[in-house]
Amino acid sequence: MKTAGKNRAAKMMRNRFHNGTALTVEHQETLGLARIVQGDCQTVLSQMQDDSVDLIVTSPPYADSRKKTYGGISTDHYVRWFLPIAQQLLRVLKPTGSFVLNIKEKVVNGERHTYVIELVLGMRKQGWLWTEEYIWHKKNCYPGKWPNRFRDAWERCLHFTKSRSFQMHQEAVRVPMGDWKEARLRSLSQTDLCRDESRVGSGFGKKIANWVGRDLAYPTNVLHLATECANRAHSAAFPVALPEWFIKLFTQENDLVLDPFLGSGTTAVAANRLQRRCIGIEINAEYCNLARESLFSNFKRLDKLSVLHNCKTCEQSQ
Ligand SMILES: C[S@@+](CC[C@H](N)C(=O)[O-])C[C@H]1O[C@@H](n2cnc3c(N)ncnc32)[C@H](O)[C@@H]1O
Repeated sequence: MKTAGKNRAAKMMRNRFHNGTALTVEHQETLGLARIVQGDCQTVLSQMQDDSVDLIVTSPPYADSRKKTYGGISTDHYVRWFLPIAQQLLRVLKPTGSFVLNIKEKVVNGERHTYVIELVLGMRKQGWLWTEEYIWHKKNCYPGKWPNRFRDAWERCLHFTKSRSFQMHQEAVRVPMGDWKEARLRSLSQTDLCRDESRVGSGFGKKIANWVGRDLAYPTNVLHLATECANRAHSAAFPVALPEWFIKLFTQENDLVLDPFLGSGTTAVAANRLQRRCIGIEINAEYCNLARESLFSNFKRLDKLSVLHNCKTCEQSQ
């Protein structure tokens, strides 16, 4: 085969869905909600436009762990490795956007390493605001027993923004009030009918009567979700409900979500379910295939989907 023919065939192969449907440029432009880009996120991000992404949700490779699966970064180099990526993320995120970083420091020589704390400080120097910290409580955390600590049942979801005024839709993540409200609100006392100021002078107060007739309440900053890795081919996948929650909270339909460490494609699946566009970057070809399959099995009946394999096309999602 001549080189041009070979290149064309290779491109066709790269753009081919596992069911054999080849994608054309028209498909990409008119149907694209999710885009999987195989490559090093540092390089791919450098080709993306400034201020173009509404939300970044990701869980980067954990320090030193899972070397056999996708190459860990040593704890001592972690901050030096991540900061240039964070700089690119800061550039591509819109001023109204959010960055949610799912991470947890590992134990080294019997104590928790400080690279996550150092990373937060480094990112603040770059210009990020460390706006909030959400906790993912892993309801089915790994069993085990250690002499000096208990089972690790939570991970951080650090929330960074570029400004104090950012896109946030709190009503989109409200939760049912629960059965307790029936008994509590059945007969209201005098105190319940007026604002009850905090007795310690904190400035906080509550008026219980305001809850009458409400079915939904605002959640806390702790997310109680089970892990799903046991059912998935990626050893470090987070549950779809995790990116889904942040996508609902920080974006609206058609906004652009980015996951620079896409893994098995969880963020892209969540974004598609919620009708948001998504760019997912993943260095490992096998995980790109896994992500493609995740998208397909979730969206067999949807034709609004395009999966690409070419980092030059990032700007077509804007
Ligand atoms: C913790 S996993 C992400 C799992 C993902 N949240 C999921 O639900 O499947 C991190 C991923 O980052 C990928 N990765 C590591 N270094 C990368 C890089 N420089 N650029 C892009 N992807 C990278 C790894 O191959 C791995 O799949």
